[in-house]
Amino acid sequence: MEPEDKDAPRPPRRAVTATRARDMGLLIVAVVAGAAVAPFGSPVAGVLGGTALVAALRLAMPTGDRHRQEHRPAAPPDTPGPASGEGVPLDRLPLALLLIDGEATVTFCSDDARALLARDPVGQHISVLFRAPAVLAAVNRSLTGGGDETIEFLARRPRQRHLRAAVRALDGPARVALTLHDVSQSYRLDAMRMDFVANASHELRTPLAAISGMVETLQGPAREDEANRDRFLGIIAREAARMARLVDDLLSLSRIELQANIAPTTPEDLRPLVAEAVSAMTPLAAENGNTLRVDLGEGPLTVPGERDELIQVFNNLISNAIRYGGADRPIDIVRADAPEGRVAIAIRDRGEGIDPSLVPRLTERFFRVNKRDSISRGGTGLGLAIVKHILTRHGGELRIESVPGEGSRFTVHLPRQPGR
Ligand SMILES: Nc1ncnc2c1ncn2[C@@H]1O[C@H](COP(=O)(O)OP(=O)(O)OP(=O)(O)O)[C@@H](O)[C@H]1O
Ligand SMILES: [Mg+2]
Repeated sequence: MEPEDKDAPRPPRRAVTATRARDMGLLIVAVVAGAAVAPFGSPVAGVLGGTALVAALRLAMPTGDRHRQEHRPAAPPDTPGPASGEGVPLDRLPLALLLIDGEATVTFCSDDARALLARDPVGQHISVLFRAPAVLAAVNRSLTGGGDETIEFLARRPRQRHLRAAVRALDGPARVALTLHDVSQSYRLDAMRMDFVANASHELRTPLAAISGMVETLQGPAREDEANRDRFLGIIAREAARMARLVDDLLSLSRIELQANIAPTTPEDLRPLVAEAVSAMTPLAAENGNTLRVDLGEGPLTVPGERDELIQVFNNLISNAIRYGGADRPIDIVRADAPEGRVAIAIRDRGEGIDPSLVPRLTERFFRVNKRDSISRGGTGLGLAIVKHILTRHGGELRIESVPGEGSRFTVHLPRQPGR
C-alpha cells in the first residue's frame, strides 16, 4: 500500500476552502446585485438578497460537492464522527456505507453497514474487517488511481454470506467509499435453479434410459420372444406415462410460478371443489381399500380462488393420503379450526407418518421420504411443491403435522372471501 504524504495539502481542506471562497464571491456578487435591484439601493436589502441567493446556489450544488463538504475533518482524522451535511446524516442513509482513508482504515460506517457487519469497524484496517483478499485488492487499486469497481465475495463473519462491494475513489480525507449489499439470496436462487435443472434432468433420464433399454432388447434378443415382448411393451408404456406425468407437473409448477404475484379474485365455494376431488380420487381409494370420509360442517367456505388450482390442491393431498396412508384405513377430509378471516380444511390419514425432521422438506421439489416407494406408486415428488405454490399464490399456506406410527394431517389454510 502506498504511504500517504502527510505534508501534502489534504484535498478536502482545499475543497472546503474553495467552497468558502466561492460563497464569499457569491455573497459579494449578490450584495452588488441585490443593492442594484433593491428599492432605494438599500445595502440591508442587498445583504438579505445576497444571503438568500447564496443559500439557493448552495442548495442547487451537485450532491458530490455537498458531500465533499460533509466530510470536512471537523474532528481530528483519528476520531471521525458521523458525517452529515445539509441536514442529512450519512449514517442514517438506508445504505451500508464505509468510508476509508488513505491508509485503508475505516473512518466512517453507516448504521446499515454496522448492522450488516454486526460490529463497529471504525478505526479498523480493511484487511482486518474482510478476510477476502479481493476486497483489500479493490480498495488498494482505488487508492492508487484505479477506476470504480464492483466485486462479489464470500464473507464468513458474522455468518457466511455473499456480499457485493462497490468501491469508488473520493478526493477527501475519505479516499474510498465502499458500499456493501447482501446478495446471498440471489446466490441461493442460482443454486436452487441449478439443483432444479439437475434434478429434473435426472428424473427424466431414468425413465428414458428404461425405455431405450427396452427398445434395444425388443430389437435384439427379444425380437422373436413373444412372451417377453408384451412385458417389455408394458414397461415402456409405464415409463412413458411417468415421463408424461413429470412433464405435466413441471409445466403446472412453472405456470403457477408465472402467476405467483397475481392473486385470484373469483369467489369459489370450497365444498363443490372438495367434492370433485373426492370423486376423482374415489376409484384409487377403493383400489387401496380406503374410505374417504368428508365432513365440512356448516357455514360458508368461500375463498377468492382459482377453481382448477384448488381442485389440484385437494387431489394431490388426497392422493398422498391414499398412497402413503396405508391400505384399508379411513381418510378424513374435515373442516379445521382457523383464525378469524381464514378457512381451513384438513386431510387426515392413519399411515406410517413422517419423521418430524423431514416434515419441513416435504414441499421441496423432488423430495421424497422414500424415493423407490414414491416412484413405484407413480410419484414424481412434485405434488406437495405444487400444493405449496398454489396456496402461496392464494395468500394461504399448508400446515403439516405428523406422528410417526399414527398418521399425518395436512391442513390447507386460505383467506376467506371478504363479506362471506
Ligand atoms: N400423507 C403422507 N404420509 C406420509 N408421507 C407423505 C404423505 N404425503 C407425502 N408424503 C411424503 O412426501 C413425499 C413428497 O410428496 P409429493 O406429493 O410432493 O410427491 P409424490 O407423492 O412422491 O409424487 P407426486 O408428484 O406424484 O405427488 C412423498 O414421496 C412421501 O414420501
Ligand atoms: Mg404426491
